[in-house]
Amino acid sequence: MGFSIVILAAGQGTRMASNKPKTLQVLAGKPMLTNILEQTITIDPDQVIIVHSPEHIDEIKKETKQFQGLLFVEQNKPLGTGHALKKALPIIKRCNNVLVLLGDVPLIKNDTLLQLIKNLSDCDIRVLSSNTAQPTGYGRIKKDADNCVKAIIEEQEANKEEKQINEINSGIIAFSGKHLGSLLDDLDATNSKGEYYLTDTIENAYSKGLRIKTTLTNQNEVFGVNDKKDLAHAEGLKREELTNALMDQGVTICDPKRVDIRGTLKCGKDVIIDVNTVFEGDVELSDGVTIGPLVIVSNSTIGKNTSILSHSNIEGANIGEDCSIGPFARLRPGTELKNQAKVGNFVETKKTTIGSKSKVNHLTYVGDAEIGEETNIGAGTITCNYDGVNKHKTIIGDNVFIGSGVELVAPISIESGATVGAGSTLSKAAPANKLTIERAKQKTIDGWQRPTKNKGK
Ligand code: UD1
Ligand code: CA
Repeated sequence: MGFSIVILAAGQGTRMASNKPKTLQVLAGKPMLTNILEQTITIDPDQVIIVHSPEHIDEIKKETKQFQGLLFVEQNKPLGTGHALKKALPIIKRCNNVLVLLGDVPLIKNDTLLQLIKNLSDCDIRVLSSNTAQPTGYGRIKKDADNCVKAIIEEQEANKEEKQINEINSGIIAFSGKHLGSLLDDLDATNSKGEYYLTDTIENAYSKGLRIKTTLTNQNEVFGVNDKKDLAHAEGLKREELTNALMDQGVTICDPKRVDIRGTLKCGKDVIIDVNTVFEGDVELSDGVTIGPLVIVSNSTIGKNTSILSHSNIEGANIGEDCSIGPFARLRPGTELKNQAKVGNFVETKKTTIGSKSKVNHLTYVGDAEIGEETNIGAGTITCNYDGVNKHKTIIGDNVFIGSGVELVAPISIESGATVGAGSTLSKAAPANKLTIERAKQKTIDGWQRPTKNKGK
C-alpha cells in the first residue's frame, strides 16, 4: 500500500527566540527541514505534505524549492500536533497509510523510516520510540502486558511514576489510513497546554481495540530540537556521524570534534584533515590530500596529493594534483589550478587559471587572469582588473617571469617567455622572450638633507 508523509512544521518555535521558523534553523549547513526532506525523498512516498504556519510559507517554499512536488498546507493557529495533522487530512490520498514526521526531529534516517512503514503491516499504528536515560521533555510510552502501546503521556501531563518511563515517543508515527480520520475527529484540547495532542490518539485507538506497537531506534536519531542548545547538540551528533563515516573509510581526522562538515564531504584514500577545519557545500578531496589547520573549503574539488596549508580559504575552486596552497591563501570562485601549481601566502585569486608548475608565491592578487605553464609570478604582483565599471582580463603565457611588485593593467597580455622587470606598471602587451620594464630613471640628489626634529632646545 502507498503512503503519504506529513511533516509538521507549523509550531511557533518560541524557544528558538528567532525570527526564522524552527524547522529552517540550520543544521550541518542546511535547514533542519532540508535534512529531513533529503531522507524522505529516497523512500518513495506518494506525497510529501508540509504543514506550515501562515507567516512562514514564503521562506519555507524558498528553502525547499529543490524538492519536486511538495504539497503545502496551512495551519492557521498552532493548536497542537493533532490539529496540525488534521489540516493535512483533506489532501492525503484516500486509504493511504500516513507517516507523520516532525520538523524539529532532523537526524532521522531513511532506513529507519522504511522499517517503520514496513512494520506497520502487523498493526494499526507504529510509533518510532527510543530508550533514553534522559526522557525529560518527551512523551512517555505506556505499554500493556503484550508490549502494545496503551497511551503516550506528554511531559506536562505525566505523573511521577510515568516520568520514570525511559521509552520515549520520537514524534514520528505511522498510521494505517483507515482509522486516522476518526481518531483525529475524537481529539480534544482538555490538557495543561490546551492543545490537540496527536499523541492522545493512541489511548483512544487502544480503547477501540486497535493494535499499536513501537519500533525502537537509537536516541540520537530522534533527538528533538527545541532551542539553540538542542541545535548545538544536534550539530555535534551530526558531526560525530559524518566524521565517523569518513574515519571508517580511512580518512585521518586529527580531532573529530574540531572538524565541521556543513554539506557533503567526499574523500579518497589517505586524506588527512587537521584541526579547526570547515567544509561547506559540496567538497571533494582526492587521494592523499592534506588539509592543514584552520582551513575553510567550500564547494571545491581538490586533486590527488595536494596540500592546503593552514589558514587558507578556498571557495568555488577546482584544484589539480600535487598542488600546494597557503598558508594564508584565499582562492575565490572560478579559481582553477592545474597540476603542480603553487599558490603561497597572502595570495588572492579569483576567476583565474594557473597553469601546471606555475607559481604565485607571495603577497599577490590575480583576478580574471589566465596564467600558462611554468610561469613565475613575483611577490607583490597585482592584476589591475577593474576600471571602476568593468572587469578586464590578463593573459599570461607559458614560462613567463614576472618580477616583484609588478602591476599589470588589464586588458593586457604577457606573451610566453617574456620577462617583466620588478616594479613595472604595464598597460601594454609584453612581447615573447624579451625583457619588458617600465620604471622611472633612478636619481640620487646630492646635498639633500633629511629634516631633523626641532625639539625646542
Ligand atoms: C512532541 C510530542 C512528544 C514527542 C516530541 C518528540 C506531541 C503532543 N508531543 O512534543 O510526544 O516526544 O515531540 O520530539 O505530539 N507543530 C505544528 N503545529 C502545532 C504544534 C506543533 O506543526 O500546532 C509542529 C512543530 O513545528 C514541531 C512539531 O510539531 O515541528 C513538534 O511540536 P513541539 O511543540 O516541538 O512538540 P514537543 O513538545 O517537542
Ligand atoms: Ca519538539
